[in-house]
Amino acid sequence: MPVQGVFVSNINCENSLRNTVVIIGAGVCGLSIGWQLAEAGAKVTIVEKSEPGRGATWAAAGMLAARAEAEPGEQALLSLNLKSQEYWPEFRNKLEKATGVPIGYRDEGTIIVALDRDDAADLEFNYKLQASLGLDTKLLSGSEARGKEPFLSPKINSAIFSPLDHQVDNRDLVNALRIAFVRAGGDLKIYSEVDSIVTENGSVRGVHLNGEEIPAQFVVLAAGAWSRTIRGIAKEDLPPIRPLKGQMLALRMDPNKPLLRHVLWAPKGIYMVPRNDGRLLIGATVEEKDFDAELTAGGILHLLRESWEALPGIDELEIDEMWTGHRPTSRDDAPILGPTSVEGLIIATGHHRNGILLAPITAKTISQLILTGDLPKEIEPFGIERFRKPKNRTPHAA
Ligand code: GLY
Repeated sequence: MPVQGVFVSNINCENSLRNTVVIIGAGVCGLSIGWQLAEAGAKVTIVEKSEPGRGATWAAAGMLAARAEAEPGEQALLSLNLKSQEYWPEFRNKLEKATGVPIGYRDEGTIIVALDRDDAADLEFNYKLQASLGLDTKLLSGSEARGKEPFLSPKINSAIFSPLDHQVDNRDLVNALRIAFVRAGGDLKIYSEVDSIVTENGSVRGVHLNGEEIPAQFVVLAAGAWSRTIRGIAKEDLPPIRPLKGQMLALRMDPNKPLLRHVLWAPKGIYMVPRNDGRLLIGATVEEKDFDAELTAGGILHLLRESWEALPGIDELEIDEMWTGHRPTSRDDAPILGPTSVEGLIIATGHHRNGILLAPITAKTISQLILTGDLPKEIEPFGIERFRKPKNRTPHAA
């Protein structure tokens, strides 16, 4: 099968055994996979327990920041992130063309700032890490950073500029994906909860939904933080995903005179993301609180205090919205992508902080896996088997 760029070329799925797919979850990844498969001619149903994209996809900030967020010891994940970021412009063009819906893609780049000596030491460590990984970032003085963003605090002493780390409006994105999926012939069942995945003799047979069975050759588990709540998955295939709570807020800037144009990372892991409509998103806390969804004074205070230190002008802005979300996080913070021990049951979950960034490569590789039967090499390191206990080995013969 020809595979060029991010899209798998159309195939004739008529009479093909590979033509019926049920996807559990209409988040950014479930919808992106469904859209690609439907475009390629497969018969796809997405089952969503509420509205599409109202989990982590809605709560996100839409940063496409493989470089700025590179972490030590995560080389395989970095390659996946970079590859997906490379696919983003084509993914966006195709989606906007298919739907006529602009998705707020912005390419000013990302700035990470340091306010005191400890932050400057962290910044330098990160810059050296990025340089050693061959990432295209630049070290700036405080005044060079203010040259790019005049309202930054005079206390900022140094910064990193990452011109290739962009952003997209995740809420516009999900609305566009929903339209694209349905226009491509996909069936979207909303406010519908899968009772269980149905298997027979080691193969998937479909899902149970409202007492009825929907038959399918393939079932894709893309239920984000809720992936462990779906019944009918054997213990060895149950993805080790937990919800990782984040609190966020949005302030309202004058869209004609925005306080900020780049994505900005302040110290202590706080980011600010300016949108075309004047909203300035500020995120996010990282809390091990299971599915707790409360906003707390401490959480919002932390976001406002750290962002105000870097961009004091936010003091005057109105609060537009505050919300919480749950990142789907695996034990090693990397996604879980690929087949399971059950023929036809495929996992695409655990995207942690990178669901929006990783949507194009998730869609491409999972579609390829379904349509061709071959495991794409990009996702080889991210299978569920990495979490399984090694089987007892026969003791070494002397
Ligand atoms: N991707 C941003 C966050 O997880 O807060």
